[in-house]
Amino acid sequence: MIAALIPAAGEGARLGRGPKALLEVAGKTLLERAVAAFLGQVDEVVVAVSASMIPTATRLLAGRARLIEGGATRQQSVMNLLMATNAERILIHDAARPFLSREVISRVIAAVEAYGAASVVMPVADTLIESESGRALDRSLLRAVQTPQGFRRTLILEAHRQALAAGVTATDDAGLVRWLGQPVALVTGSPWLMKITATDDLVMAHALAEAWDGA
Ligand code: CTP
Ligand code: MG
Repeated sequence: MIAALIPAAGEGARLGRGPKALLEVAGKTLLERAVAAFLGQVDEVVVAVSASMIPTATRLLAGRARLIEGGATRQQSVMNLLMATNAERILIHDAARPFLSREVISRVIAAVEAYGAASVVMPVADTLIESESGRALDRSLLRAVQTPQGFRRTLILEAHRQALAAGVTATDDAGLVRWLGQPVALVTGSPWLMKITATDDLVMAHALAEAWDGA
C-alpha cells in the first residue's frame, strides 16, 4: 500500500495572504491541485492542515483525501501525517508545489521500490556563489531538492523519531534519512515543481497554470 502525505498546515507568512494551501491558482487551490495529482496513483492521500483550515479543506476535498491536524513546524506536520497511516510506502509532497505530473510520481515510486528512499532533484542552471566571499561553487556537484520524496515506512518513521529525540531539524524529509546515515536515491524532478514561496512565485504560477491545465 502506498500513501501520499501532504503537509499543508503552513501559515504562508512570506506571502502574507493566509494559508498558502488555500490560495487559488487559475480556479483551483494549491490544496486541490496537490491532492488531484496523486488520485489514481496511490492507495490513500492524507493531508495535514491547521485547525482553522479544516472546514474549508473539508469542503474543497469532498472526501478525496483524509484530513488531519498539522503541527507548529513542517517537520511536526509530517510526523503527525506518518502517525496517521499504516502504508508500507510513503510519498511526501508539499502543497506549495502545485504542478506535479504522473511521470514524476511514477519515477519516485519506482526508486522507493528499488532503493528504499528517493527524492526528486534538479541540476542548477545558475552560477552559484558564496555571498560573503563571492567564491563560485562547482554547480556540477550540486542539486536543488524538490518534492515528492518517497520512503519505506520503517525508514522514514525511524528518521523522524530519532530526529525528534535529538532535536535535529531539516527542511526536507530526505535530509533526516541522510542524517540517519542512510542513502537517498536521486531521481530527476521538473522545473514545473517550482515552490510557491513569495508573491512573484504566485504570479508565475498563474501564468504557468494556463499551459499546465491546457496540456
Ligand atoms: N507546512 C506544514 N506545517 C507547518 C509549516 C509548513 O504542513 N507548520 C507545509 C506548508 O503548508 C507547505 C510546506 O510545508 O506545503 C512547505 O512549507 P512553506 O513553503 O514554508 O509554507 P509555509 O510555512 O506556509 O510558508 P511560510 O514559511 O512563508 O509561512
Ligand atoms: Mg514555512
